Amino acid sequence: MTAVRAFTASAPGKIILFGEHAVVYGYPAIAVPLTAVQVTVSAEAAPSGSGITLHAADLGRTLALADLQPADPLYDALAYPIHLALQTLRCPAPDLRLTVRSTIPIASGLGSGAALAAALIRAVWGALGQPLDDDVLNPLVYEVEKRHHGTPSGIDNTTIVYARPVYFVREQPPQTFTVARPFTLLVADSGHSSPTRLTVADVRHRYDADPTGTGAVLARIGAIAEQARQAIEAGEIAALGPLMDENHALLAELTVSSPHLDQLCQAARAAGAQGAKLSGGGRGGNMIALVQEDSADAVAEALRQAGAVRVLTTRVDSPS
Ligand code: PMV
Repeated sequence: MTAVRAFTASAPGKIILFGEHAVVYGYPAIAVPLTAVQVTVSAEAAPSGSGITLHAADLGRTLALADLQPADPLYDALAYPIHLALQTLRCPAPDLRLTVRSTIPIASGLGSGAALAAALIRAVWGALGQPLDDDVLNPLVYEVEKRHHGTPSGIDNTTIVYARPVYFVREQPPQTFTVARPFTLLVADSGHSSPTRLTVADVRHRYDADPTGTGAVLARIGAIAEQARQAIEAGEIAALGPLMDENHALLAELTVSSPHLDQLCQAARAAGAQGAKLSGGGRGGNMIALVQEDSADAVAEALRQAGAVRVLTTRVDSPS
């Protein structure tokens, strides 16, 4: 029987700053880790013959891995990453209890699926005493993302696995970049969950119906992401606000905003945010607002008044 040891692994959430949807078409996008929310998986040895059990602490449920079949709604999120971890280790299922805790809201564009997969795979490898390189983990988490989202660009898994700001172009090695001057974002949850798969499919229909018009919108979004990277690297934070506003308007043109996301962006700007946009797949999920320290509280309050169910604050900085 394979020896196991206690091991705890975690992974942060993520937030897309610029370039969602256009990234699917090969344009650049920028995303940063969101360390205010995390998935943590603790692995410990279990009684001989018990196999792998999963304790979903937030749901108060304990499940045997062997009972989770592909038709089960929890299979892709919980069982598939573990099977991938064991397959790549060429290891039979050890006797292991995995306790999963998450503060990342699901289906709201914060990368809950990728973070759960990353933490689970890290925990299984760690419990079996195997060091796991991020370059090995990243494609495994991408495999899990494909089951959740169909044809994801790979930006979520890349930002979450490497836990650093990422400038991402599909099918190219991820580039990290320097944040010359840290800045603060509020991340507000609209309270509506919206599957990314659907908005990605709708943008695809629009593109197929009008490749020139929709293509021009996507190209402009890509150019904004490029300009934003340059501004972040130059420490020109004031330039980011107008770029966020324009990026939001272009996403609205692609029909992936919603009346509530538009209201949240307007409320943030009216309360003093330098810029605001939806983040992620859209039609629900989260929006982000760029704030200066002296207006952060007023903007957060305005977002709550406009119906945000949760407002997180995150400071974007280069990893130390
Ligand atoms: O909804 P999220 O945060 O998982 O982001 C989706 C980002 C898209 O560009 C819309 C899709 C993708 O695969 O990149």
